[in-house]
Formats: sequence, C-alpha cells, structure tokens
Amino acid sequence: MTQPKTPQERSLPAHIAIIMDGNGRWATARGLSRSEGHKAGSRAVRTVVTRCRELGISHLTLYAFSQENWGRPKKEVGFLFDLLVSFLRDELPAMERENIRLSVFGDISALPMAARKALDHAMARTARNTALHLNLALNYSGRADIVQACRRLMAAGTSEQDVTEELFSSFLWTAGQPDPDLVIRTSGEIRLSNFLLYQSAYSELYFTDIAWPDFGSEQLDEALHAYAMRSRRFGRTEEQKQS
Ligand code: IPE
Ligand code: IPE
Ligand code: MG
Repeated sequence: MTQPKTPQERSLPAHIAIIMDGNGRWATARGLSRSEGHKAGSRAVRTVVTRCRELGISHLTLYAFSQENWGRPKKEVGFLFDLLVSFLRDELPAMERENIRLSVFGDISALPMAARKALDHAMARTARNTALHLNLALNYSGRADIVQACRRLMAAGTSEQDVTEELFSSFLWTAGQPDPDLVIRTSGEIRLSNFLLYQSAYSELYFTDIAWPDFGSEQLDEALHAYAMRSRRFGRTEEQKQS
C-alpha cells in the first residue's frame, strides 16, 4: 500500500519552469570568461534535473536560449550550442536510465545542424519515458509561441466559434503539458523576458538573487518551500479555498 502524502508532498508543483539567468555575471565576478559561466550553468542543470527526478516532479522546463539571445556576440551563441551538444551527449545515458523524456519548446529549425541532430536523437531515444518530462526552451519566445499557434490554428481551417482556450492551448509548443505551477528566475532580475507568457497566467513566481551556476538542490528546496507556503486562490476567496 502506498503511504498517504505529507502536506509538503501534496503541495509540490507538477510543473516547474526556470529562467536560468546570471551565468555571465557569475563568471565576470570570478574573473572568468562568460563561457566558463555557461559551463558552470550546465552543471547546475544536471543537479536540478536530478533533484526534480528524486522529488517526483513530473514536468520541468528550462529556458536555455531565447529568440532575443541571437543578438549576443556570435562567439557566445556558438559556444552555447556547442555546450548543448556536449550536454546532450553526456546526459543522454542518465536520461534513459532515469526514465526522463526530453522535449523542446521553440523553433529548432534555426539551430546549428549539430544541435538539431543531437536534440532529435535525444528526443527520439527518450520519447517513451514517463518519470520526468524535461523541456528545453530553445530559440524560444512566448509571443512567437502565441503567433505560431494562431497560424497553425488558421491553417487547420478552424472556425471562429471553435476557438476556445483549450483548443488554443493544444496548438502551443506546450501542448498536452500542465501550465507551470512555479516559475523561478535566478540572478536578481524581476522579469519574464518573454517566457511562457500564455501559460504562466496563474503561476507562482519566485525570484532569487542567486546566480544560476550557484543554484543547486538546497536552493531548489528553498523555492519549493516558498511555493508550499503560497495560497493559490485562482480568483476565489481564501474561505472558499478551504471549504
Ligand atoms: C543565462 O545567463 C544564460 C543565457 C541567457 C543563455 P546570462 O548569459 O544571461 O548571464 P548574465 O545575465 O549575463 O549574467
Ligand atoms: C533570459 O535571460 C533568457 C534565458 C535565460 C535563456 P536573458 O539574460 O537573455 O534576459 P534579459 O535580456 O536580461 O531580460
Ligand atoms: Mg542574463
């Protein structure tokens, strides 16, 4: 027989989404190159994915590269995609072993060929996994997601009266996945930077000054504790919620 869940377990989010920010400043503060910061950031990804898997979180979305990030120096952009390729090569065995499914939110057709290939390979190899659904937001933009959903909805010949929130959601990159319960942003910035704009309508937001490379299991647990203390009312009163 399974044990009843503790209140703490009951209030775990089903979907955590993270804006992994601060790699560059973390590196600069240590006299390192921005690339070193991104490398350290990829180690933090491994730690956080492992912790989410341990906790039984069902969905984790990591904002890894925004459409706006194409505006960075070419060298940095190239480094980020090389890092993605080596990350996928190193982590695929663990994802397969740990029953983790990889998906992407964003248009990956614009990515360098090696990154596309590595992503397609990892997604195909993990497609049937069921424990943790790990999404990488790559070449992602929340507004672009809404626009591509509109385009496909129209291309499908949808009639005006059939457009509901439910149908619309099924055309977004996040189709079939729950909205994020908790959105975390590291490194002290208090903004969404075009992340999951439609889906975060009722997400709890958590901001921390910790830079992404320093974000580990302890910091994730702190965020989860803060989340568990929040009262999610969805427009209703506290009294209605308790009854
Ligand atoms: C986050 O760290 C990684 C990406 C956006 C790809 P940054 O590179 O934005 O780090 P800061 O904000 O410059 O410190
Ligand atoms: C947001 O971080 C994008 C990712 C974490 C991938 P940025 O560092 O690009 O965001 P801004 O430009 O400071 O808002
Ligand atoms: Mg940044």
